[in-house]
Amino acid sequence: MIRSRILGTGSYAPRKVLSNKELESMIDTTDEWITTRTGIRQRHIASDDEPNSLLAAKAGRNALEMAGLSAEDMDLIIVGTFTPDMPMPSTACLVQAELGAKRAGAFDVVAACSGFLHALAIADKFIKAEPTQKILVIGSEVLSRRTNWSDRSTCVLFGDGAGAVVLAASEEADSGVMSTHLHADGRLWELLTVRGLGTSCMVDEDMLKQGLHYIEMNGREVFKHAVRALESAAMEALEANGWSGEDIDLLVAHQANIRILEFLRERLGLPREKVFINIDKYGNTSAASIPIALDEANRSGVLKPGHKVLMVSFGGGFTWASAAVTW
Ligand code: ACO
Repeated sequence: MIRSRILGTGSYAPRKVLSNKELESMIDTTDEWITTRTGIRQRHIASDDEPNSLLAAKAGRNALEMAGLSAEDMDLIIVGTFTPDMPMPSTACLVQAELGAKRAGAFDVVAACSGFLHALAIADKFIKAEPTQKILVIGSEVLSRRTNWSDRSTCVLFGDGAGAVVLAASEEADSGVMSTHLHADGRLWELLTVRGLGTSCMVDEDMLKQGLHYIEMNGREVFKHAVRALESAAMEALEANGWSGEDIDLLVAHQANIRILEFLRERLGLPREKVFINIDKYGNTSAASIPIALDEANRSGVLKPGHKVLMVSFGGGFTWASAAVTW
């Protein structure tokens, strides 16, 4: 049986760090509120000359290096993001050029915080259909450019960064990507949006004045849906693989809120050390959050061959997804 396998992971976060303390001087908030309500202590912020594609390419290069492959070995580049450099061309095309991945097709996937798992699911199906394919899958965001820095209910949450994996076929039946599941409920789109910059309204002074180019979120409602959807995504993945909570070696969930991660941990009956947490360092980096966490877990030796890894994400759309991987 052909399965796709992660040959290398990589990540990159901009140098500039914005701490909760610094936010205290910008808006009406406290380090204590942010830490206890979200688990976030700091976030990385891209500088003006760091567009999304640059972050994505750096993460991609790191993943290729670990995989021992070159950009020219890639058949496809898929980037999960909702903060592209520009509406056209795709960020994936800009990454393809930056890396010199001359043979690769390239496209973006928009599924907000579930963007990386959507991209991974697509890559997995590609490899099963054409086992010679080698695919660079990236989740990358520059959320700081879509953040309303005067809205304290959202601006404390988000950060910038990128993570990547290199995927290729493996004939080992009991390792690699074991399952992927994707879900959406577009009826609830209004709870988490960037309304402007698309074709549903004109890009004009009025749009900018209303701040429609910024992320808007009904945090309380999103929280309620997120915990339910993440739990059901986790259960679906366990059932599909005949795994129980006890079988999981590492839960790598979207890093949106420490309280959501804690809820999931309890529902799955996992001890603390089996839940990977780095939200304190990066905040919510949307599509980048899972691949950054995966890369940190991999490079720090937390992930070991044979480990059963469960990834789950939830984001705007609404979208939610899972991937079960035997490392
Ligand atoms: N500092 C201080 N006080 C604040 C801040 C702040 N930064 N932000 C809000 N508050 C206040 C509110 O005004 C409110 O005050 P009030 O009671 O006087 O009205 C109080 O704190 C509580 O506000 P809530 O919004 O109820 O706070 P909550 O505990 O729900 O936390 C949060 C807000 C962190 C946004 C939470 O709802 C959350 O994590 N939601 C889910 C986010 C998520 O999962 N996103 C996933 C997808 S993201 C994507 O796709 C891009």
